[in-house]
Amino acid sequence: MRIEGELRVPSDKSISHRAIIIGALAEGDTLVKNWLRSADTTATLRVYRQMGLEVEEKESGELVVKGRGLFSLREPDRVLDAQNSGTTARLSLGVLAAQPFFAVLTGDDSLRRRPMLRVVKPLREMGASVDGREGGNLLPLAVRGGPLRGISFFNKKASAQVKSALLLAGLHAEGTTEVEEPYLSRDHTERMLRLFEVDLETVPLERGVLVKVKGPQQPTGGKEIFVPADPSSAAFFAAAAVLLPGSHLLLKEVLVNPTRDGFFRKLRQMGALLEYENPRELSMEPIADVRVRHSPELRGVEVFPEEVPAMIDELPLLAVVATQAEGTTVIRGAAELRVKESDRIKATVENLRKMGARVEELPDGMVIYGKTPLRGGVKIKTYGDHRIAMAFTVAGLVADGPVELDDPSCVAVSYPRFFDDLKKVLKP
Ligand code: S3P
Repeated sequence: MRIEGELRVPSDKSISHRAIIIGALAEGDTLVKNWLRSADTTATLRVYRQMGLEVEEKESGELVVKGRGLFSLREPDRVLDAQNSGTTARLSLGVLAAQPFFAVLTGDDSLRRRPMLRVVKPLREMGASVDGREGGNLLPLAVRGGPLRGISFFNKKASAQVKSALLLAGLHAEGTTEVEEPYLSRDHTERMLRLFEVDLETVPLERGVLVKVKGPQQPTGGKEIFVPADPSSAAFFAAAAVLLPGSHLLLKEVLVNPTRDGFFRKLRQMGALLEYENPRELSMEPIADVRVRHSPELRGVEVFPEEVPAMIDELPLLAVVATQAEGTTVIRGAAELRVKESDRIKATVENLRKMGARVEELPDGMVIYGKTPLRGGVKIKTYGDHRIAMAFTVAGLVADGPVELDDPSCVAVSYPRFFDDLKKVLKP
């Protein structure tokens, strides 16, 4: 089996969420081209519609988000459901904190176990009133929004969801909101706010960065957002092409923002034949076509803590690739993986071991000893996590027989047509 051809994978999930949320706060219509239609992004759309946002879905698939300004949303008369989406929940907490109304936000079984205090705590410092189980750590959360004031916050985990929640709250607040990060987390919120003419400052520090926004500031509408292909979805095909002999794949229109393309850079460092072609910029984001070929001489690598944010969602997949590289791969500083849609360290180690790989579990990462043949014929436990399901589909392609996923349908969270696209480029 090999991977051959061209593929434009679905659009970026992070940018698609932000197009709805920032579009909702803007004053004027936003035209969104190539918006990602998946379970997570549809959850965001539904949440904002429940607060009175009008969104027109054109026959062409384009969206018109009819934002009417920072304080134009209205009190929802039902519980808002972010379903499986941490981005919907955390970014929306930043918005709700500032609205002059009451709202209750919940999520599915996985999301109701994930920590929210990381956003709730600084939002409370800004003056928000939020309550829920474990002192406001777990959904469902009740938010009574109101006037906020700017704060200075150190975002120790370099979480883009936390930073984004605070910047969105900061737009509504009196005074300046400052978020410092030890290393830059994905910066789509900052780029999109700039597209909407928000005056926002990013200051490089000796160690890390500082992002500042002065409130209140009304984002200007009337903009167009083009959403590029999601590098986190493209990654599965890039990995499959690297691993399967005879493969040659062109991934079109991929977002290659340096806060997101860490996986591609790490693959190259491992010896993968991967290049960016036709680099260009659209809606303030860098994109390129990514050409990938079968790469027979992969070497183990180290992933350092400061490299983690730019490849956080691709680390389970990197571990799969590492089983096919000569030598040892060490991933450290990635404890955040334990509080994603599933405990991704546990899920990755458990499933890789089932397939015969030699893996060691660390509190904040993994050690993978390559190169080991992978065994097929096993049942993969996805824990309902889309990225585990797709990473182990790739593992199944390089194994000596196919694997079975306990819940293949969970891929719909970010990539509803994943298996169809795989069929398109997988050749006997
Ligand atoms: C996201 C940020 C990351 C990432 C998630 C999407 C975003 O989470 O894992 O899939 O769109 O801001 P953290 O900010 O919690 O690291």
